[in-house]
Amino acid sequence: MTTTDDAHDTAHDEAAHDRRRLRQWLAGRARADGVDRRDLLKLLAAAGIATGLPTALSTPARAAAPAAPGIVKPLPAERFTVRGTNAETNFASLAGTGHSTPVSHFFVRNHTTTPQLDPMSWELQVWGNGLAGPGRTFTLADLKRLPAVTRSSFIECAGNGRAFYGSQQGRGAEGTAWTLGAIGSARWRGARLADVLRLAGIRRDAVDVLPRGLDAEYVTANGTNLGHVRRPLPVAKALDDVLLAYEMNGEPLPPDHGAPVRVVVPSWVGIASTKWVGDIEVSREPLFSPWNTDFYRLFGDAYPAGGSAPLTRQTVKSAFELPWNASLSAHTHHRLTGRSWSGAGAVARVDVSTDAGRTWHPAQLHDTPRRADWVRWSARWHPTATGPTELLARATDTTGRTQPATTTYNTQGYLFDAVVRHAVTVV
Ligand code: MTE
Repeated sequence: MTTTDDAHDTAHDEAAHDRRRLRQWLAGRARADGVDRRDLLKLLAAAGIATGLPTALSTPARAAAPAAPGIVKPLPAERFTVRGTNAETNFASLAGTGHSTPVSHFFVRNHTTTPQLDPMSWELQVWGNGLAGPGRTFTLADLKRLPAVTRSSFIECAGNGRAFYGSQQGRGAEGTAWTLGAIGSARWRGARLADVLRLAGIRRDAVDVLPRGLDAEYVTANGTNLGHVRRPLPVAKALDDVLLAYEMNGEPLPPDHGAPVRVVVPSWVGIASTKWVGDIEVSREPLFSPWNTDFYRLFGDAYPAGGSAPLTRQTVKSAFELPWNASLSAHTHHRLTGRSWSGAGAVARVDVSTDAGRTWHPAQLHDTPRRADWVRWSARWHPTATGPTELLARATDTTGRTQPATTTYNTQGYLFDAVVRHAVTVV
């Protein structure tokens, strides 16, 4: 995931990533629709970068570290790890919080900063050649007059778990070094996007919709303005289970999570769930933005030169509600807790290993497994030997997908689904 991280190494990764992608783009090997190629060339010239000279492009650029994350809610250190403009939930802090992630614990992924929008004057414009008429504008009150739907669903960053490409598989990936806390599950309440699109007059031959955020335009570390965050969705998904949510866990949507209205795209990578949505283009032609071309595709040795198809569903993952390197007493009964989820189906089972993967035992599930949501689980452990060891949790979903021991590398570190080896010490 691209970021404007303050961590020196990630800021450097970001700059390196941008330069490499620009180089590929110039060579016609990558696409970044939404940025005019001539503008890019001008930008490169202004930066004193000779186009076609990869050595010039590979000179490290200085990326300014943001002074503050631009997040409105408090980010106490026991609950969050701040990563540039983003805040990762410390998974251990979810213990005992219930099924839904409280706003006080929910991770924040901001490309820029949280805007504070006035719900009274907010409007959503639905427009484009995929509509039969001129389009339609909805106020918040208009949306609230439509049938309200509540869905419990996770939102998870496609780069969640990225840090383990490096720490566990020995090959680090570019972008924010999330561990497993770039996910939260909430009860989202709002209008169906399908109802809004039908009221706006969606045509039968419309193929894509493109929600766009009202937050500031995103400028990459090397100064390229990619415009407002926007990520196309195929009409089939848009008409299926997507919400225009104005409530989170029974309260008005808070500023950091998209107030007054955000898109919630169950099961899909978090970038699809546009926060602070201001307009939605409906189109008869496929739509592109940097967020389904340059980013949120898989690039690397195992993938086609132009990258994989744009990412859609999330993969299967599991996490312990334990700090990394936690100390646990020997000769004591421990109740290990955690959560597992999948974008493909409901979680069918979770197996836990307390001996670094030699033996596995089924964990007890504490929620009715549902698609697009996570389950809480627990497992008993009575360690006898002292010293460092690893705890492993491995989920299988109803489509038969099981977390693998290792996962295929991609340069941007998306969709890490391998079993995470959680280091602990028995004392
Ligand atoms: N929408 C806008 N307008 N701006 C953003 O920066 N970030 C996206 C998505 N929607 C983003 C956005 C990404 S990458 C993710 S993972 C989710 O929002 C995060 O949602 P959250 O901050 O509510 O956890």
